[in-house]
Amino acid sequence: MPSKGGMRAGLGGNCEMDSDLAAFMALLTTGIYVLTVADGQHHHGMSSSWVTQVSGEPPLLMAAVDREHFSANVIARTGVFGLNLVGHRSRHLEDYFLSPASRRPDNLQQMRYEMSPRLNVPWLKEAAASVEARVVDCVAAGDHHLLIASPVGTRINEADRPLTSLDLDYVYLGGKTVIRRDRSGWQA
Ligand SMILES: Cc1cc2nc3c(=O)[nH]c(=O)nc-3n(C[C@H](O)[C@H](O)[C@H](O)COP(=O)(O)O)c2cc1C
Repeated sequence: MPSKGGMRAGLGGNCEMDSDLAAFMALLTTGIYVLTVADGQHHHGMSSSWVTQVSGEPPLLMAAVDREHFSANVIARTGVFGLNLVGHRSRHLEDYFLSPASRRPDNLQQMRYEMSPRLNVPWLKEAAASVEARVVDCVAAGDHHLLIASPVGTRINEADRPLTSLDLDYVYLGGKTVIRRDRSGWQA
């Protein structure tokens, strides 16, 4: 993706992007996170890349989550989530959440994690840093919800260079699948 032949990136549902737009979207650099939720004793995580700071005072974060995701439903009930920053040394976290093995309830069972001190959301021990955040506003944006959230607690682990979307061989553009990253023409 995108091929010179004008391949379209199928995004699931009724949505399709033409190849130039998909190419542009794929060039937007983001961090790579594991967004975590807790519903009673059920603890769950998903790969998340559409995340950014959106206010300085008060400090606010935004995570865009597909309305159909299991995690979105949990957040709608609980109003809280965790964000775990994936670094180069913890890249295996992203590998796991991409894999079919993670497509099940309670998909943190093989992970080392603890519950965050104030909001009781999972903090992955191998993440470079983690935050617990309370949703203060939710804006519908197409098939995603923009969850604007106040960070109430943070844990910084061992220093590590954050993984970014450009480090992965695939990119999330919405929908159910990721698409292959085209690095042709990039200098090493
Ligand atoms: C690198 C990467 C980044 C992703 N970023 C997001 C994102 O920002 N928002 C989102 O809703 N889904 C994103 N996804 C897709 C979800 O992680 C994936 O659909 C997951 O299975 C949803 O989990 P759940 O339905 O169990 O909550 C991303 C996937 C990958 C591989």
